[in-house]
Amino acid sequence: MGAALRIVDLVKNYYLEAVTVRALRGVSVEVEEGDFVALMGPSGSGKSTLLNLVGCLDRPTSGEYYLGDENVASMDDDQLSEIRSRYLGFIFQSYNLLAQYTVVENIEVPLLYQGCKLDDSTREWCVSLAELVGLGDRLDHRPMQLSGGQQQRVAIARALVNRPQLILADEPTGNLDTKTSDEIMVMLTRLNLEGKTIIMVTHENDIAEWAKRVIRMRDGHIESDVRNAHPRGIGQIQAPTVSHSIETPTRAPEMFRPT
Ligand SMILES: Nc1ncnc2c1ncn2[C@@H]1O[C@H](COP(=O)(O)OP(=O)(O)OP(=O)(O)O)[C@@H](O)[C@H]1O
Ligand SMILES: [Mg+2]
Repeated sequence: MGAALRIVDLVKNYYLEAVTVRALRGVSVEVEEGDFVALMGPSGSGKSTLLNLVGCLDRPTSGEYYLGDENVASMDDDQLSEIRSRYLGFIFQSYNLLAQYTVVENIEVPLLYQGCKLDDSTREWCVSLAELVGLGDRLDHRPMQLSGGQQQRVAIARALVNRPQLILADEPTGNLDTKTSDEIMVMLTRLNLEGKTIIMVTHENDIAEWAKRVIRMRDGHIESDVRNAHPRGIGQIQAPTVSHSIETPTRAPEMFRPT
């Protein structure tokens, strides 16, 4: 497997009126394709800053960032948004769903941003993603009519709509109870077993235990970087069969239900 991404000496300063915040102070890291990384560390240590840079939502002050073979650190806004829609899927703690849209419409949103024309086939794909995350019977519900865990599942389906290679999640279980968090982690593990690379910020050790690798940050540095010998879920969760692959818009409502 090649490197999904490579970061060299990444620095991010935020310039406020009176002070400069040195949020990242020279971070170097490589993430292999198919890895599942938990990013941990105290509040303010730079986790979200790093995830936002990896997600091409912001640009570094200095340093290099290769996504595949492309150095994205020096790209302009249009190029970054093109990279985002081609390679990346985002899941946030607060779900970020649009209240006036239904489940299936929320899943379609990234396609709209890409300027993709919505038609029967994109609708079918989005319905199949809703089914994939176990919401096939909630297609016309609006976010307010869903539980937190269901809203996060919509967000996961939405993150998959552009068939991203890399999924970035900032505290995806931060607002959820333990049981619902585990359901979300089962889903992320299955996506990882299918070959998606995942980087997930979390504060919780028992959530990080699902990942294959745990990177801890402190004061804008990487403090430790450890492989997890026994990620939770591996061995218990089956990789979806090819015919149920999320790459093919088939009906597969069961496979994403927690075991
Ligand atoms: N837009 C911004 N402008 C100025 N300073 C910022 C900005 N975003 C983050 N910071 C600062 O950069 C540092 C790193 O913040 P970051 O959000 O990356 O931390 P974090 O590790 O994600 O923390 P948390 O666990 O609380 O989410 C903090 O000192 C924060 O105050
Ligand atoms: Mg954060």
